[in-house]
Order: sequence, then structure tokens, then C-alpha cells
Amino acid sequence: MSEPVIEVKNAKKIYKMGKERIRAVDGVSFTVDKGEFCCLLGTSGSGKSTLLNLMAGIEKLSAGEILIKGESIGKMSENKLSKFRQENLGFVFQAYNLIGSMTALENVELPLVFKRVRGGKRKRMAKKILKQVGLGGRMKHKPKEMSGGQQQRVGIARAFVSKPDIVFADEPTGNLDSHTTIEVMDLIKEMAKKNNQTIVMVTHDRKLSEYADKIIHILDGKIESVEVVEKPLEPETVPPGEAATTVQNASGAAANAQE
Ligand SMILES: Nc1ncnc2c1ncn2[C@@H]1O[C@H](COP(=O)(O)OP(=O)(O)O)[C@@H](O)[C@H]1O
Ligand SMILES: [Mg+2]
Repeated sequence: MSEPVIEVKNAKKIYKMGKERIRAVDGVSFTVDKGEFCCLLGTSGSGKSTLLNLMAGIEKLSAGEILIKGESIGKMSENKLSKFRQENLGFVFQAYNLIGSMTALENVELPLVFKRVRGGKRKRMAKKILKQVGLGGRMKHKPKEMSGGQQQRVGIARAFVSKPDIVFADEPTGNLDSHTTIEVMDLIKEMAKKNNQTIVMVTHDRKLSEYADKIIHILDGKIESVEVVEKPLEPETVPPGEAATTVQNASGAAANAQE
């Protein structure tokens, strides 16, 4: 069952600021399997967003390689990369990044416009997913006419509407209250499960990482440890915090741990 859909191999991102070199991502290697919910967990400034952006092809690697579905994204031309992202990747942002002048429906249709899906089919797909995220009654609303939680539901619908194999999310609940955070996290998890999609989510919040199957602890641009959560057969019956975990240190040696 474990089939890597993302392979990160000794990835590095070094920013040059005058004479200073900032090693934002400093030799990171790990894999993410198909259908896995992977969390990049670390404090502010540890390099999580930079790593996510490298994986999503938004930032260019300084060294190393990242394979998505077996293809090296660093080697793609801009054209190929942008097409590859349209076909395979979805994004959820902390600040929602919706287009203010467009309705919820139009925002969700947008990835399908770029993929050249025709008008009628496009509307049907966007309406269907907006209903799935509980916004059947808000299709004509513009972002400023919706709550933060509703805007992020639109953001989630937009990320999932074209059924990408991988959805990247950078602090997707960072602007939401704790109650809405749980709703939005449950929704992301549920949407991904439906089509066995892979999630890579950045957070600084240990509690949110409990939604993940695999937690990559990031510190100063490096992997501190990798924690694989062993799921019980009936995930709903055991609260995430009580699931057994295996902790690996950066060299890959495993040690059993109980949360
Ligand atoms: N475009 C940039 N230019 C220079 N330094 C950057 C840039 N982006 C991020 N950094 C630096 O890289 C480090 C990691 O940043 P980031 O990946 O945003 O961390 P996180 O998402 O974990 O908070 C920080 O020290 C940050 O200041
Ligand atoms: Mg960040």
C-alpha cells in the first residue's frame, strides 16, 4: 500500500541576503505515500513554508531533488511545471487567497477555467463541491460577505474541485477560531479521504498535527524526527491523541513511544 507520491531528496534552499546566507531548508529527505496525511510541524521560522513551497514548485531548490509522482519538479520548464501543477496539485492558504471581486462559485470554478473545462460542466462541478463543503446557500456570496470559516471552505472547495492527487496547505486554520479550526480540519481530512488524496500541511500547532498519519518535525531547516502514527482499524473510536506512535530520529532509527 505504501507507494511514495512525493520524494524529497536532500532538499536545500539557501537565501542570500547581502553577505548573509540563510539556510531555510538545510538538507531534508523524506517521502510521502499516496493517500497519506503528512504534517510539517515546527516553530515559526523553522523553514516549513519554504519546504512546502519547494515541494509545490513555487520556490526553486538550491540543491537536491524533489520528485512528485516520479517526476523531478526542479527539472521542469516553467510551462511544464505550471501545467503539472494544474493537473496534480491543489493549494489551501492561511489567508484564503480568494479573489474579492468574484463569487464563491466563480472562485471555485477558477482552477477549472485554467484547465479549460467547459462552462456547463465547470459550473456543475463547482456547485457540487460547494454543496459538499456546506456552502450550497452561499454560492453567490463574495468573500467579504462570508465569515472566515466560510471563506476557507471556499478555499478548500477550490483546492479539491479538480481532484488533484496532492493538496498542500500552509497553516490553513491560522486565521480561524478554535471551533472553526476543528470544522475546517475535519473537512480537509474528509475531502482527502474520499478520493485517497495526499495532504501535506504546515502547522506550528502540535494539536493539529494529530490529524496526520506522519509528522515531520522541522527545526532550523532540518528534520528533527519523523513520527508515524499507527492508525487503529476504526479511527473514529480512538481520539487522535491516544493512537500509538512510532518516533524515528533523523537517521531513521525507530523507537517506540506512547503519546
Ligand atoms: N524570500 C526569503 N528571503 C530571505 N529569507 C527568507 C525568505 N523566505 C523565508 N526566509 C527565511 O527562511 C527561514 C524560514 O522561513 P519560513 O520557511 O517562512 O519558516 P516557517 O514557515 O517555518 O515560519 C526564516 O529564517 C525566514 O526569515
Ligand atoms: Mg510559514
